[in-house]
Amino acid sequence: MGRYEDVFRASVEDRERFWLNAAGALDWHRAPTRALDDSNPPFYRWFADGEINVAHNALDRHVEAGRGDQAALIYDSPVTDTRRTYTYTQLRDEVATFAGVLRGLGVGLGDRVVIYMPMIPEAAIAMLACARLGAVHSVVFGGFAAKELAARIDDAAPKVVVSASCGIEGRRIIEYKPLLDKAIELSANKPQTQVILQRPQAVAAMGPNDADWAEAAASATPADPVTVKSTDPLYVLYTSGTTGRPKGVVRDSGGYATALAWSMPNVYDVGPGQTIFTASDVGWVVGHSYIVYAPLLAGATTVLYEGKPVGTPDAGQFWRVMSEYGVRSMFTAPTAFRALRKEDPNGDYARRYDLSGLRYLFLAGERLDPETYRWASELLKIPVIDHWWQTETGWPIVANPAGIELLEIKPGSPTRPLPGWDIRVLDTDGRPAPAGEDGAIVAKLPLPPGAFPTLWNDDERFVKSYLSAFDGYYLTGDGGRIDADGYVFVMGRTDDVINVAGHRLSTGGMEEVLASHPDVAECAVIGVSDQMKGQLPRGFVVLKAGVLDREGAATEGYEDRLRAALVQMVRDQVGAVASLKEISIVPALPKTRSGKILRKTMRGIADGIDEPVPSTLDDASVLDALRPILRPR
Ligand code: COA
Ligand code: AMP
Repeated sequence: MGRYEDVFRASVEDRERFWLNAAGALDWHRAPTRALDDSNPPFYRWFADGEINVAHNALDRHVEAGRGDQAALIYDSPVTDTRRTYTYTQLRDEVATFAGVLRGLGVGLGDRVVIYMPMIPEAAIAMLACARLGAVHSVVFGGFAAKELAARIDDAAPKVVVSASCGIEGRRIIEYKPLLDKAIELSANKPQTQVILQRPQAVAAMGPNDADWAEAAASATPADPVTVKSTDPLYVLYTSGTTGRPKGVVRDSGGYATALAWSMPNVYDVGPGQTIFTASDVGWVVGHSYIVYAPLLAGATTVLYEGKPVGTPDAGQFWRVMSEYGVRSMFTAPTAFRALRKEDPNGDYARRYDLSGLRYLFLAGERLDPETYRWASELLKIPVIDHWWQTETGWPIVANPAGIELLEIKPGSPTRPLPGWDIRVLDTDGRPAPAGEDGAIVAKLPLPPGAFPTLWNDDERFVKSYLSAFDGYYLTGDGGRIDADGYVFVMGRTDDVINVAGHRLSTGGMEEVLASHPDVAECAVIGVSDQMKGQLPRGFVVLKAGVLDREGAATEGYEDRLRAALVQMVRDQVGAVASLKEISIVPALPKTRSGKILRKTMRGIADGIDEPVPSTLDDASVLDALRPILRPR
């Protein structure tokens, strides 16, 4: 039996011992005496009597252990031509100072702070400053528009919002402040203060409730870490569900810190003093866990990269970063490698750099297509490790645990469940699917430490969305199978969540925007396969009766104008990141006899998979009329 099997078995046979041992890697103000509190299922809690501070563990602990001069965070920004290294001491001091700023603004234990920032070190500093105070941060991805930001502000009710004057997308400057002002105007819950970091690329006009980051920091008194309960929330991270209303995934403190600290050596094979480069965004879970918290909890060095893999200035930037900082493990989404392959199919850029320190490439966020897997493996000649996880789980569910034992790689599979994850595949009746057969992928409760205890202020939705389909199991929302060797294959979402360039989006949210246009009677948005982005949304709208007869409406160009207006509405209300660029105006949508739109059937036709037409189809002629529009071109 291999090392992986031993470790996995240990986690099953004595869960308490396994996780208390893992928790021992951290400093606790009060060490937990129990790992799991299962007294109130389905609400499980980890290390319930423990007390901790996550920022202390990420920073002060390493300084106190003599690692103060080691690089903690390297900011590399080709779009602004900036490189800056923060040692552990410097980062701790910056975080303590900004925690002082927040405390001066009245932020304390349990208060929420929304962070809406581009990929700059201050985003991580703001997150860690919240953690230092026991305040709950909620980072909103910069690519979301004002309305999405407003929905999150409304739900989290933050005392303070932290933002920057602008983000930089390639050569474009995206002004954040007008988006923030608009979001606050739309929100019912107004924050007391906005702290704005002024960037030289665009200086924001300040209002009466705005505080300038630099000025506030200059006069702040640094704040010490505050002891919190292990079960106190560290953050809320909103993610897309099937409806437009985002779900606030709550993360606890002690369980999350334990799981992340365990994962660094065991999954990513990165230890103190070694460097990990995670090319994602702090607005996503990957950024929370593997740009900010996990590398710092492990005493490693993290690279925070502002830019894209291709474009400004060229397709060599990932390789440059890896060679310049001696990166040991790199982590990004497959889409980034598809972008690199398109730009540089022969890997000429990669060959210009010394990549001898690179041991692994980890990919997650969407399905890793075999072609991209092969291209990356052949180019880099190192293990290319697909692994599967979600915002909800906080760390990987299924992976190849490189630090324990590198298991055989089966292209198309993220390999095997990690300790703590009891993964099953169930059929629609809740029976175990035979090996190799598709079904719903579920995790038997309780979920391990690091995963989510509930949704923010919404236990009911937590139970309804995730725990009620199959009693005793967490519904991942992904479909797939487990083969006879225990390898998990994740085939895609079984709900209407889509994944565009590694970004998780709700088609329901986009439908709500399209449906709000006065000329639209009904609509559907589906995710269709795309070679570069994995999936892209496509919209279908049915016009209200009489629209085309309306005076002027039938004039030439009306449909083009409507399509452009709808695209712009989604861009303005959801954000550019939605990438909804293709909308078809159709006479009707295919439905069941009970009136449910057959999105799955539409998706199948669009992807060229001829799924059987459901027997519940109401009017076959509607679907037949749609086929030529849907078919892949
Ligand atoms: N602020 C403002 N706008 C943003 C933004 C941000 N933080 N992030 C993205 N956008 C905009 C982009 O500029 C683009 O706008 P456009 O339609 O006007 O060109 C749009 O949102 C779509 O962005 P994106 O999906 O990122 O597409 P892209 O073509 O700009 O880049 C990739 C594609 C593959 C190169 C890029 O998505 C990537 O590197 N992804 C991999 C890493 C990753 O982010 N993973 C996430 C989870 S692991
Ligand atoms: P997010 O919550 O944004 O991290 O998105 C999670 C979703 O991305 C999952 O539910 C999957 O649908 C998809 N996903 C993430 N990683 C993988 C992977 N390795 N293989 C297939 N799908 C993945």
